[in-house]
Amino acid sequence: MAVTPPEIDDMPDPIVIADNLEKRFDGLTAVDGVSFTIREGQIFGLLGPNGAGKSTTISMLSTYLRPTAGDASIDGLSIGREADAIKKIIGVVPQDIALYPTLTAMQNLRFYGKIYGLGGSHLESRCRELLELMELWERRDDRVEEFSGGMKRRVNMAAGLLHHPRFLLLDEPTVGVDPQSREHIFETIFRIRDSGTTILYTSHYMEEVELLCDFITIIDRGRVIAAGTLRELLKILGEGGVIELEIAGGECPGGLTARLEGHASVTAVKQEKNRLLISSDNSAHSLPPVMRELEAAGCEVASLELYSPNLEKLFIHLTGRELRE
Ligand SMILES: Nc1ncnc2c1ncn2[C@@H]1O[C@H](COP(=O)(O)OP(=O)(O)OP(=O)(O)O)[C@@H](O)[C@H]1O
Ligand SMILES: [Mg+2]
Repeated sequence: MAVTPPEIDDMPDPIVIADNLEKRFDGLTAVDGVSFTIREGQIFGLLGPNGAGKSTTISMLSTYLRPTAGDASIDGLSIGREADAIKKIIGVVPQDIALYPTLTAMQNLRFYGKIYGLGGSHLESRCRELLELMELWERRDDRVEEFSGGMKRRVNMAAGLLHHPRFLLLDEPTVGVDPQSREHIFETIFRIRDSGTTILYTSHYMEEVELLCDFITIIDRGRVIAAGTLRELLKILGEGGVIELEIAGGECPGGLTARLEGHASVTAVKQEKNRLLISSDNSAHSLPPVMRELEAAGCEVASLELYSPNLEKLFIHLTGRELRE
C-alpha cells in the first residue's frame, strides 16, 4: 500500500507574529489592522510611502507605543504583557538618529551599553567589535557631530546591536546617506543576518527592499496591500513582463479584454477607461497578437510601454499612486 509521506514544513519558525495591529491617534488611524509573520533568519521588508504607518508599527513592536487594538508576539512574548522581556531581545534603530553629538562614537556606544546593563571589558570589546563591523574603529574617538549622515547611521546601528539582539528593527536606515555608506549598510545588514539575527527593514525605496529582503509586506495608509517574496509579488504583474498601453480617444471597446485574455501567453488583462495593463509570460511573444487585436477592434494606440515587473509598478498597479509622493 502506498504511504503518503507527511508534509514537511521546511520554513524557519516564526519569531514575530503581528495580529491585527491597530493604532489610532485622535481622529487618525495610522495602522489599521496589520498582520504579518516574520520567520527566523529573514530580512523582512516593510515597504510603504511616507505616512503609511511603518514607524508606528515599529514603535508598537518595540513596545514604545501601545496598540489601540490587536497584539503581537516576539519570540513567544506578548508586546502588551511582556514588554520588559521583549526589550532585552530586540534592538531598535530608530528613523531619527538618537546619538549625543558632542560625545565620541565610543562614548555613545558605552552610554547605550550601560542602558542595556553591559559594562567592563565585555562592553569595551563589544564596542570595538561593532565599530570594526561598521568600519568606524579608526574614528572611535571623534565626536559624532563631525560625522557624515552615513557614519552617524552606522553608529546608530551599532548602538542597537550591543546586546546581541535576536531581532533587529531598522527604520529607514539609509535616509540621508551617501551612496558609499548605503552600500556599506547593505553589506552590514547581510552580515548581521548571517550571524543569526532576524531583521525587520522598513523603507520607501523599493530597489532596496528588492535587493535586501527575503519577504516583503507592502503597506499603504495603515493597511497591508500585498505580501510575499519578491517573486510572488512581481508575479501579480506577470512573470514575463507587462505591456501597458493607452488607446486614443474614449474607452476600450467591449469584449476587447476577453479577446486579449484568450491569447496563450497573456496571463491577465486589466482595463481602466482607455488604459490597458496586459500581463504576460513573454511580452515579446504577446505584443504582435495584442496589436492585431487592437487593430481589428479599430483602436489607435496613443502610447505603449513594455517593462519587466518591479515593485514601483506593482505599487502603482495596486493603488493608482506613485510610491514616492
Ligand atoms: N504621535 C503621533 N501623533 C499623531 N499622529 C501620528 C503620530 N505618529 C504618527 N502619526 C501619524 O500616523 C501616520 C503614520 O505615520 P508613520 O510615522 O508611522 O508613517 P511612516 O510610514 O513611518 O512614514 P515615513 O516614511 O514618512 O517615515 C501619519 O499620518 C502620521 O502623521
Ligand atoms: Mg517612518
